[in-house]
This record gives sequence, structure tokens and C-alpha cells, in this order.
Amino acid sequence: MDFILSPSLLSADFANLQQAVEMINDSQADWFHIDVMDGMFVPNITIGQPVVKAIKKHAKKPLDVHLMIMDPDRYIQGFKDAGADILTVHEEACRHLNRTLAAIRQAGMKAGVSINPHTPVCMLEDIVEYADLVLIMSVNPGFGGQKFIESSYRKIEETARLKEKYNRNLIIEVDGGVSLENTPKLLSCGANALVAGNAVFSAPDPKKRIEEFKRLGL
Ligand code: DX5
Ligand code: ZN
Repeated sequence: MDFILSPSLLSADFANLQQAVEMINDSQADWFHIDVMDGMFVPNITIGQPVVKAIKKHAKKPLDVHLMIMDPDRYIQGFKDAGADILTVHEEACRHLNRTLAAIRQAGMKAGVSINPHTPVCMLEDIVEYADLVLIMSVNPGFGGQKFIESSYRKIEETARLKEKYNRNLIIEVDGGVSLENTPKLLSCGANALVAGNAVFSAPDPKKRIEEFKRLGL
């Protein structure tokens, strides 16, 4: 089945971001995945609204912004103004998740909620009907190029059951250690959006690698 491929710019050359953006524009990829980290929720610090805004100027596809930050409510409007189309927050970083997702939709973006590898899918039971997207982290967030955590397959299947029950339009996205090898299994478990950083940008020809990914959805 067809799926959304969202290459993660975290693995691109930050000194040549425009080149990476043009490559994705010209490729079969669907979205741009942008990882925002605050050095508190995760150990790493990456990019913020100014860089998202700069990317938006060149991007011809939706910006899928993944906030790995504490209390993301503070920045919802900021990321809307910077050009985010999909804004995903972490369940573990929000005190009032229902309110946060409503605020993201109210600001005019698709609202996503992500869970870390240690967080059970049942934490999403009462929220999936208020979300547009669930992002299953299949590595501990913070860095690209890590090894896929196997229990994620089960979590995707559990999320697919919640989708069936509460929200047939839910997008189930997977982030971390996604490769050409595990893509068929991720799709058969119920994922319909995949983030790929290292698998795309470490390829000798990233555009061709994107094509190889997309072919797996035909
Ligand atoms: C990790 C980020 C991911 C990362 C994925 O914290 O959320 O989006 O870029 O990178 P790969 O595909 O290399 O695991
Ligand atoms: Zn991410």
C-alpha cells in the first residue's frame, strides 16, 4: 500500500540545507521531517523556528515538524508562523495533551502526538480521536542513525487497532531506524508514514534511495 515518506533533514548536511531541500523537492518523497530538540526533553539540541522558516522558503512539500521539547504549548504559534504544516508533540512532554492538540489544530496545522519507546500505546486511547497523526518512536529520540527497537512492531499494530476503533483517518508514522529492509513489515503492521534519516542521506544517491523506498509501497 502507498505510504508517506518523510525524509529527516537531521541527517542532511546542515551547511548545505538548501541542497537537501531541493533534492527532496525533486524526489518522490512526500514530506520534510524536521527534528526540533531542546537539550532538555532529549540530550541533543538541533534547530528552531528561524531554520524552519528558512527551509519553508524553498520547500515545495509539507513540513512535518517533530517537537522533542518540554512544554511545547509555548511554541505552537511560533512554528505555525515559521511554516509547519504538521506539528507533532510528545505525550511525555505535555501536561494537558488534549488542550495542546486542540491548540495545534486551532492554529491551522495537523496535530500529531508521539510516544517514546518506553511509553505504552494505551496512553493514547483517549486522545487518538483528537489527533491527526500518531508518531511511534522506534528509537530513543535525540539522534539519527540508531538501531530500530523491535517492540515497535507490536506498538504499531496496537495503534492500528486504536485507529480502527476511534479514528479511521489517523496517520500512523514511525520514526527511528527505518530502512529498506524493515519497511515492508512496518507497512504490514499498519504504518502509513515513515521517517527516514540515515537510510536516505547516507545513500550514495539519496534521491534514488527515496525511489527505492517508495517502490516498496506499490
Ligand atoms: C530521532 C529523530 C529522527 C531521526 C531519525 O530523535 O526523531 O527523526 O532523524 O533518524 P534515522 O532514520 O537515522 O534513525
Ligand atoms: Zn523525528
